Amino acid sequence: MEGDIDRILITHEQLDRRIREMADDIAACYPEEDTGLVLVPILAGSIIFLADLIRRLPMKMKLGLIAVSSYAGAVTESRDASITRDLSVDITDQHVLVIDDILDTGKTLRLVGQRLRERKPRTLRTAVLLRKPSKAPADVTADFVGFEIEDEFVVGYGLDYDGHYRNYPHIAVLKPERY
Ligand code: IMP
Ligand code: MG
Repeated sequence: MEGDIDRILITHEQLDRRIREMADDIAACYPEEDTGLVLVPILAGSIIFLADLIRRLPMKMKLGLIAVSSYAGAVTESRDASITRDLSVDITDQHVLVIDDILDTGKTLRLVGQRLRERKPRTLRTAVLLRKPSKAPADVTADFVGFEIEDEFVVGYGLDYDGHYRNYPHIAVLKPERY
């Protein structure tokens, strides 16, 4: 795996430090006495970010998993997103925080946002680890963003290329011949 990596953009140590800061910001947004928080990670890209983030959050919460597919196979352009596993936790009148790995074109977060709003959550916010520059339409935003990155395809720390590299501990770019 290491031999496929061209360069590391964000090290695990940098990720760890930033996620602690994000956890503080998120915790400040949901005071302890305010119960009914449901985190909704979008599978599978968000799992490593989720695992590190939730262990830094002190408040009570539930997890509701949702899966969205936008890439089929060895491609780096997202197609139309579709929900492949729907939420099974009741979010009506709950505070909902959607967790995703990266905000790129915004198709994923738009679709998930629409689906979740139908169920009348009390509040709906979004946290993403990474954001690529300004491809997302103005109405698709993230309330919490870890890092802004350049417009290039990255892997590691949960993010995949054709299903691989999710277990690579840093955010990295593959060698050109690997794409
Ligand atoms: P969007 O729907 O275009 O905003 O893309 C969001 C989804 O596409 C993310 O949840 C990722 O799964 C995937 N994605 C977008 N950019 C990258 C990337 O650079 N590397 C790996 N996955 C990506
Ligand atoms: Mg994803």
